[in-house]
Amino acid sequence: MTLIQAASDAVNVNHLIGGTEAPASSGQVFESLDPHDGSVVAVAPRGTSRDASRVVGAARRAFDEGPWPRMAAQERARYLHALADLLEANGAELAALETRDTGRPMRIVQAYDVQRSAHNLRFFADYVTMAESTSLSTNGRLSYVLHPPAGVVVAISPWNLPLMLSTWKVAPALAFGNTVVLKPAEQTPGTASRLGQLALEAGIPEGVLNVVHGFGPGEIGEYLTTDPRVDRITFTGSSETGRAVMRSAAQNLTPVSLELGGRSANVVFADADMELALEGSLRAVFSNNGEMCLAGSRLLVERSILEEFTERYVSAAAALRVGDPKDLETDIGPLIEQTHLDKVKSYVDLGCEEGGELLTGGAPILDDRLPSGLHFPATVLGSMSNGMRAAREEIFGPVQTIIGFEDEREALSLANDTNFGLAAMLWTSNLDRAHAIARGCRAGTVWVNCFFDRDLREPFGGMGDSGVGREGGAYSRDFFTEPQAVVVRHRPLEY
Ligand code: NAI
Ligand code: MG
Repeated sequence: MTLIQAASDAVNVNHLIGGTEAPASSGQVFESLDPHDGSVVAVAPRGTSRDASRVVGAARRAFDEGPWPRMAAQERARYLHALADLLEANGAELAALETRDTGRPMRIVQAYDVQRSAHNLRFFADYVTMAESTSLSTNGRLSYVLHPPAGVVVAISPWNLPLMLSTWKVAPALAFGNTVVLKPAEQTPGTASRLGQLALEAGIPEGVLNVVHGFGPGEIGEYLTTDPRVDRITFTGSSETGRAVMRSAAQNLTPVSLELGGRSANVVFADADMELALEGSLRAVFSNNGEMCLAGSRLLVERSILEEFTERYVSAAAALRVGDPKDLETDIGPLIEQTHLDKVKSYVDLGCEEGGELLTGGAPILDDRLPSGLHFPATVLGSMSNGMRAAREEIFGPVQTIIGFEDEREALSLANDTNFGLAAMLWTSNLDRAHAIARGCRAGTVWVNCFFDRDLREPFGGMGDSGVGREGGAYSRDFFTEPQAVVVRHRPLEY
């Protein structure tokens, strides 16, 4: 099965329910647009409550009656490796589709997305074949822990890293023996749909990975979260929507894993390796168009180097090339859509009203070669303070806010003065300080002299408004299975 190439170059995407492609029950469709030029990338079914019910039914049947949860882990692992092989074999097509759907620089998408997506699958395939379980024994009593799959998993993914974040959910869910309903964001239906097709091609049985499309509130996304036949919901997106998902899930006491927003501190001490800190602090907010939950978008800089660091940071930010994401020279592509650009711009304006100083960027670029008008340059606000809304709320765009600090104590207190708690970055050459401060950071991940460096065994997730729960390695196993203790009393050996 391949996507039908329409005359306009747009792809027609369908639901994938129980191994069969299907339109929406209403016949309605929606378009996803290329944020660079406004052309139609994909036409997708606008999922309904009936579609939600059908797809959960299909996943339920595949779980209750199908081979997937009953297979040896080694066999499931082989299928997941086969799917990873297919992602890699179709890497160029997937990268092109992802770039058009998201507007993210192709250079990043090519280097990262498909490779990491394949790694998500391979990692959990290997994990289930290698992981050990606990047993406890005393004379007369033995207990051991089983990890049967949870059942039907609903995975709802966002538009900023569609394939990577979809596979981050789908891979562990499948590896541990669940069946899945994946709903990608309405802005980016393309690669998730391909993932579903490639899973069938890899031989994964029908109904094990289902993919449906459409919107959230009052539509298919919300219906999926209220269905009592669902056993787990894993969601990545905004904190507001996370709350809505948790409310829906509460009706059925369905466990949720929520990876939400952030406003992570990126702390530069005067003793840092300046080149490393500069490069990392730029990447921490301007890569991926700034559309990153992990963005180190509160740049805290020690006062003794504030002026020099700011100057160098601003000139490096101003040099980032904004352009067509398909151009491999482009550093920053268009933002996902107009409402998002309006939000990003409004935070920059707010920051200025609150007393910040616009040091570079600040308004969309008007240029005939950037037809959609969604191209927003790297923007830096200086003279900020941590109490300002523009320094506290999630912007999710290429906007950095710089805040000075006097000493270590103030640095830590500013870093933790946030409703979020997803990540923190520390740049310092003082090892003693690095370990001490890392321990004090209220954040799910603390990076010291690096950013975005991940081993998938590590817990990933956030505190506060950044989410509920952790995924990764054994943390994913705890979420996607029902850990079960089997307790055996036996005759004590008395001789
Ligand atoms: P969103 O959080 O509303 O959407 C994410 C996903 O949730 C999409 O698949 C959407 O269809 C679905 N959804 C929305 N409402 C739902 C509901 N009531 N029930 C079930 N599913 C629902 O994100 P949106 O509106 O696209 O972006 C708004 C802001 O969220 C961004 O400006 C950014 O600040 C933040 N965001 C954060 C992300 C992260 O990685 N932490 C990713 C995307 C957005
Ligand atoms: Mg799109």
